[in-house]
Amino acid sequence: MLKSDTKKYRLGPACALAAFILLWCAETIGAAEAAGKPVVPDTIAQRALACSACHGKEGRATQDGFFPRIAGKPAGYLYNQLRNFRDGRRHNPMMAYMVTQLSDDYLKELADYFSGLHPPYPAHPPYPAQPPVTVSAAVLQRGRQLAIDGDAARGIPACSACHGATLTGVAPAVPGLVGLPRDYLNAQFGAWKNGSRQAAAPDCMAQLAARLTVDDISAASSWLAAQPVPADAAPQATPMQRLPLQCGSVPAAR
Ligand code: HEC
Ligand code: HEC
Repeated sequence: MLKSDTKKYRLGPACALAAFILLWCAETIGAAEAAGKPVVPDTIAQRALACSACHGKEGRATQDGFFPRIAGKPAGYLYNQLRNFRDGRRHNPMMAYMVTQLSDDYLKELADYFSGLHPPYPAHPPYPAQPPVTVSAAVLQRGRQLAIDGDAARGIPACSACHGATLTGVAPAVPGLVGLPRDYLNAQFGAWKNGSRQAAAPDCMAQLAARLTVDDISAASSWLAAQPVPADAAPQATPMQRLPLQCGSVPAAR
């Protein structure tokens, strides 16, 4: 008897608060409607507007070379990244702040939403339009070699072996590499090398980053950032049969 009394007492203020909030919401919406103000619909598109401040309209990127495009990337990849920021496997104060309180379900909804958007790319590289990359033909040639052929003597597989023949990514979890700014690409390799970006183990990109020299990375990023995005920039739908290194974030290759 005494126990249930205590329970009632404890629930009391919480219920009162909940009821007050409900009432306040109802009244605010009612007042807005009465005043003829449009009520903002609570849709995923509406919520995702908060992301446009940094990622551009519909996630198409902005002029800032460190804010990546998120539109059209494989849904599984986007979902993994949102969880990585939330759970501390990838570090960026702005992104951590955005996702810190969000549930897996909500993050999945955001990932599916942005994955389904395909706003156009700028007409030609660099993306975003920034001063052109000025590196020698030899550096670009080295970058192309790493991207398309790899460097077998040093145990470096071609980027295309995992990121797809056209380097536009592979569903569900490998992102495209064309259409990204050079600064962003370099920053990701730096983060993998120093351990501040991690993917599910075995982390193939961390292994690869460790095998690449700073010059290799710079060459690959410069070449990639100079490539036009093909007309069909969608990620390849069929997963790769076999990956040259094991990647824990790619379901079929586990
Ligand atoms: C205040 C700026 C800011 C806002 C707002 C923001 N982001 Fe980001 N986001 C960033 C930056 C900067 C990065 C790159 C971090 C890095 O270099 O690792 C990033 C990276 C990402 C990535 C990883 C992309 C990739 O290719 O790996 C995803 C996914 C992402 N953001 C989704 C979102 C979503 C969804 C929202 C809205 C809920 C959002 N962001 C809001 C700044 C922002
Ligand atoms: C063995 C497979 C494999 C190879 C080879 C590979 N990658 Fe990756 N890469 C991945 C996977 C898987 C991811 C997604 C990791 C994650 O979930 O964070 C990734 C992610 C990336 C990202 C992050 C993209 C973004 O939007 O943030 C960059 C940059 C990248 N790779 C560059 C390269 C380059 C350049 C090469 C060639 C020198 C290469 N990768 C070769 C598997 C591979």
